[in-house]
Amino acid sequence: MSASDVVVLGAGAIGTAVAWRCAQRGLSVTVIDPAPRNGAWRTAAGMLAPITELHYTETPLLRLGIDSLARYPAFAAEVGEESGAPVGLLASGAVMAAWDGADLAALRDLHAFARRLGVDAELLSGRELRALEPALAAGLPGAMYAPGDQQVDPRLLHRALVTAAGRGGVVFVESSGSVLIDGDRVRGVRLADGTRIESPHVVVAAGCWSHAVAGLPASVRPPVRPVKGQTLRLRLPGRPRLTRIVRGWVKGVPIYLVPRADGAIIAGASVEERGFDEQPRAGAVYELLRDAQSLVPELGEAVLEEISTGLRPGSPDNAPVIGPTAVDGLIHATGHHRNGILLAPITADGVATLVADGALPDELAAFTMDRFAAVA
Ligand code: GLY
Repeated sequence: MSASDVVVLGAGAIGTAVAWRCAQRGLSVTVIDPAPRNGAWRTAAGMLAPITELHYTETPLLRLGIDSLARYPAFAAEVGEESGAPVGLLASGAVMAAWDGADLAALRDLHAFARRLGVDAELLSGRELRALEPALAAGLPGAMYAPGDQQVDPRLLHRALVTAAGRGGVVFVESSGSVLIDGDRVRGVRLADGTRIESPHVVVAAGCWSHAVAGLPASVRPPVRPVKGQTLRLRLPGRPRLTRIVRGWVKGVPIYLVPRADGAIIAGASVEERGFDEQPRAGAVYELLRDAQSLVPELGEAVLEEISTGLRPGSPDNAPVIGPTAVDGLIHATGHHRNGILLAPITADGVATLVADGALPDELAAFTMDRFAAVA
């Protein structure tokens, strides 16, 4: 038997960031994960792009994303300093390109909506778009440009977070864990080998596996499901390349291209409801290559370096599930769906505050599991 102030279930981007922030508050932290090298962070493109991710029904999520994006420069600098490793933060900006006149009309509406929300975005003509990104296909009629959108390299970020957390005293254990609850209070976690870790706080940050964490009563199981996504790593040696994140719709199908500092371009992503299937699917790869090439014709010449498949933790309203539950000491930090990398700073700050000070910050109050009970 051992003891820890906090046990975090899940060593992904969210769990590791939460653990690191808790350790900075002087708490002893144990992170448990049966497969710590596998997580949605491996496949994520790392867009920090709440504005070009905007959907009409998701204004609270937009506000959360903008708040988290504003924290990124300090978060990345601190992780970089404490780990001694880069995280690949780039203030690249993002363009959302229209494919045809109908897309452009829809983008104009979205831009007007964004402006009403006070968001920094501008409309570009086709000519202005090509001047900004000459590698794009000729004839694209225009775009919405979000200069404040950024990117980070999720694999670098995750490695740096693990290092920073480790240096801060966080203990990582490769095991599954079953939550121990006594009445309406969490008591800790039992590992697969039977070891018991006593803890007054258990944070469920197990991504798409969060719903299936052993030991959770049905009433506090987060409503999270796997949403499969595939991304491709492409490289065009010696070619002019993109400098900004490019998002677009090709015949109604969304696609994004994220140019990394090392010259690679990440193209993504499929959105597939296939349970826990993590096999790459030929059709999804074909569609991504086809649509990427439509937006940037030269990508037909690219080297296909990697096909990556991951499972997003989707929630019923696409927003994360963060905060306390009906079981005292049991905390959720999951359901981040398409925004786990973007929302890591605000989630980690909020959960560390909840654990250390006993109250969830106001900016996260709308994202607790209670909102689903209210709907039901
Ligand atoms: N954040 C983009 C995606 O989930 O594909």
